[in-house]
Amino acid sequence: MSILKVANLTKVYGNKKSGLTVKALDKFNMSVEDGEFVGVMGPSGSGKTTLLNILATIDTPSSGELFINGTNPSKLREKESALFRRRELGFIFQDFNLLDTLSIKENIILPLVLDKLKIKEINQRVMDIASILNIVDILEKRPYEVSGGQQQRAACARALVHNPSIILADEPTGNLDSKASNDVMESLRKLNETKKATIAMVTHDPFAASFCDRIIMIKDGKFFLEIVKGSNRQAFFKQILDSLSVLGGNYNDIA
Ligand SMILES: Nc1ncnc2c1ncn2[C@@H]1O[C@H](COP(=O)(O)OP(=O)(O)OP(=O)(O)O)[C@@H](O)[C@H]1O
Ligand SMILES: [Mg+2]
Repeated sequence: MSILKVANLTKVYGNKKSGLTVKALDKFNMSVEDGEFVGVMGPSGSGKTTLLNILATIDTPSSGELFINGTNPSKLREKESALFRRRELGFIFQDFNLLDTLSIKENIILPLVLDKLKIKEINQRVMDIASILNIVDILEKRPYEVSGGQQQRAACARALVHNPSIILADEPTGNLDSKASNDVMESLRKLNETKKATIAMVTHDPFAASFCDRIIMIKDGKFFLEIVKGSNRQAFFKQILDSLSVLGGNYNDIA
């Protein structure tokens, strides 16, 4: 079953002063199946952030449709919409977005506290995810006391702890060095494999992308091409690099 489906998604930004419009998304289609880990890549200005904002239900398309777990979020009232976002979606941001006044553990359990889960259940879930992500030892620390990679793994735990339908990740390795990027991508991979987490991730980074099952490339707001991972990550990585050089834009320098 498709957890996420967009059909003919179009987003036009207007500038009231100049009267000019920009078509950031142009009849874009994609779907993500239950348990899939999908990456979205594209040159600067191709519409990735616009797409993610629409998937996150914080922006609405000009036309076209979005379904998350069978629901079209634009049909919900404001209150239902906030609840839908909190229950169905998990978010991972480039800059971690952890609260410095809370411990790592408190950051992770925030969505569960809002849902008034029992303490025992909360603790079980935290320990389960924290041990998968190897952050048990830092649960009592504050975000500023741990490394960027550890903060991002805590953010991964927070994104999954309430069992959302899908995790949306925006450049999760954008602020990390290569070792920490590797740790975070291994973590997402593990959450996908052991917890069946469904993940859609926007990334510029071909190495991060190579951890996905499938890559969708977008250009000028349109679907450009798709690559599916075979049995070998190394070969997939090579394929991603080749496709990026065809895609052009700011990727030309990579190849
Ligand atoms: N709020 C806005 N108002 C007007 N135009 C916008 C707005 N947001 C984005 N755009 C335009 O829409 C297009 C797509 O932008 P978007 O931010 O989605 O690209 P992107 O793929 O995320 O790029 P990057 O890799 O640089 O982050 C661009 O031409 C951009 O200038
Ligand atoms: Mg962007």
